[in-house]
Amino acid sequence: MNAHQARFSLDGKNALVTGAARGLGWEIAQAFAQAGATVFLNGRNSAALQARVDSLAEDGLSAVAAVFDVSDQDGTRNWYRERGGPIDILVNNVGMRHRKPIAETPLDDFSHMLDVNLTAAYGLSRMLAPEMAEKGSGAIVNVTSIAGPFARANDIAYTAAKGGLESLTRALAVELGPKNVRCNGIAPGYFATEANQAMVDSPAVNEFLQGRVPLQRWGAPPEIAGAAVFLASPAASYINGQILTVDGGMTASF
Ligand SMILES: NC(=O)c1ccc[n+]([C@@H]2O[C@H](COP(=O)([O-])OP(=O)(O)OC[C@H]3O[C@@H](n4cnc5c(N)ncnc54)[C@H](OP(=O)(O)O)[C@@H]3O)[C@@H](O)[C@H]2O)c1
Repeated sequence: MNAHQARFSLDGKNALVTGAARGLGWEIAQAFAQAGATVFLNGRNSAALQARVDSLAEDGLSAVAAVFDVSDQDGTRNWYRERGGPIDILVNNVGMRHRKPIAETPLDDFSHMLDVNLTAAYGLSRMLAPEMAEKGSGAIVNVTSIAGPFARANDIAYTAAKGGLESLTRALAVELGPKNVRCNGIAPGYFATEANQAMVDSPAVNEFLQGRVPLQRWGAPPEIAGAAVFLASPAASYINGQILTVDGGMTASF
């Protein structure tokens, strides 16, 4: 590995990626492992996570299952106590969306959306930042959304939560920066994940994206990974408090 390649390496790092069993989290987890990290793959389904851990191990990559629901404070604390090593990189990737208007979003549902999309990222950051600070280095990457700075109708709780996550990213960056703990965000646009399959199959959505996205297509899930590796790696050592939008140019065009 030459000096330039070393800047993009995660060799020797421990990284927790939440929501890593499938979708964008799985892409990020694979790329981190390929970049040299030991990846703690989080999710709620232990069999699904173990299958991912085993498939990485077959390729000689290092991974561990981290089974807990990020919105369950006790479960998260239990994992933390038993995790078996300090975490250098935290990716808050779990996101929950229910695409409902205000009239169909009672306060309890709104609160739950904030718990999963925002409070969980705060809780994990608060838990792991002290050990990063003590080491004098660390990176937090929050997976936000283009729904952070922009809004579509009938998606009220998700939009509010992602806006909060964007602000949390900046707040963590300025508070933890003096300890050399960086915090940045990734804002994906439209990605053809399993969770979006119905939209991927919809001619109307495809026509919409053709017209709205300068690259005229969905993002392929692996296309998220480079941004995550970059922001977590020494290559981004002077980048702090930024949101990197990965949307094929959608939000650059009007
Ligand atoms: N896909 C897109 O086009 C897109 C666009 C903009 C932003 N994003 C953001 O990108 C992130 C990933 O999206 P995605 O589409 O890849 O999601 P996804 O396909 O729905 O995957 C979610 C993952 O999170 C896990 N998970 C869900 N709730 C959890 C919880 N409470 N605790 C622990 N794990 C949980 C799921 O595993 P288990 O069910 O097995 O626990 C699954 O592996 C989200 O923050 C999303 O808002 C995605």
